[in-house]
Amino acid sequence: MTTRRDFLQSTVAIAGGLALSSFSQAKENSSETIYTPNKLTDAQGKYFLLPLPYSYNALEPVIDAKTVELHYNFHHKPAVTAANKAEDNLSVARDNNDFTLVKHYEKELAFNLSSHILHTHYWDNLSGKGGGIPKGNLLKAIENNFGSYDKLKTHLAAATISVEGAGWGILGYLPASGKLMVLQCENHQKLTAWGVIPILVLDVWEHAYYLKYQNRRSEYVNNLFDIINWNTVEQRFNGVL
Ligand SMILES: [Fe+2]
Repeated sequence: MTTRRDFLQSTVAIAGGLALSSFSQAKENSSETIYTPNKLTDAQGKYFLLPLPYSYNALEPVIDAKTVELHYNFHHKPAVTAANKAEDNLSVARDNNDFTLVKHYEKELAFNLSSHILHTHYWDNLSGKGGGIPKGNLLKAIENNFGSYDKLKTHLAAATISVEGAGWGILGYLPASGKLMVLQCENHQKLTAWGVIPILVLDVWEHAYYLKYQNRRSEYVNNLFDIINWNTVEQRFNGVL
């Protein structure tokens, strides 16, 4: 059976040692820990929840500890369970040749697996020690595609703030075109363009900010830029070039 250590060793590139502690023991060490969560399953093909790379209060004051605790345990974690359940039920449907509920479980899979993928990126692309501006290849690509970092920031913030209902603002990369682009995602799976790989994701479901910001979504989104971990964002970008 593949253990969490096996999984992390296969999917996490780390300078300075593996962060293998449980979530309750996890410490803020984002400058050393680089998650590349492009493999979300164990050896059995089951989705599972990576530990947070920091403690609940690590993103304060931008995001309060209670919000991180609730978000991770009661919004991200159930999506992992539901994605596995959807795949299990589709397997049963094939075995029984009974596709009465196929539409339901296909929708469940798209919604919950997309939630799992985006939330995994979200935790990874934030840090209490974040902020600043991107560097290296990522900055060059941003300047080539958007004109400047400031133009990207303004575009991404506007797209994120104006998501209709619950959703995400996404900076993504399409390998087939070599372009970075901003997408506005509703729920977890709508308004995507096929093949675009999320590089930086900003969660604007109310569960991500309402305890602290209530209706002030724009304030939350603008503050998020103070905790973006550009190191992990650039790592992810370099990994998909
Ligand atoms: Fe969320």
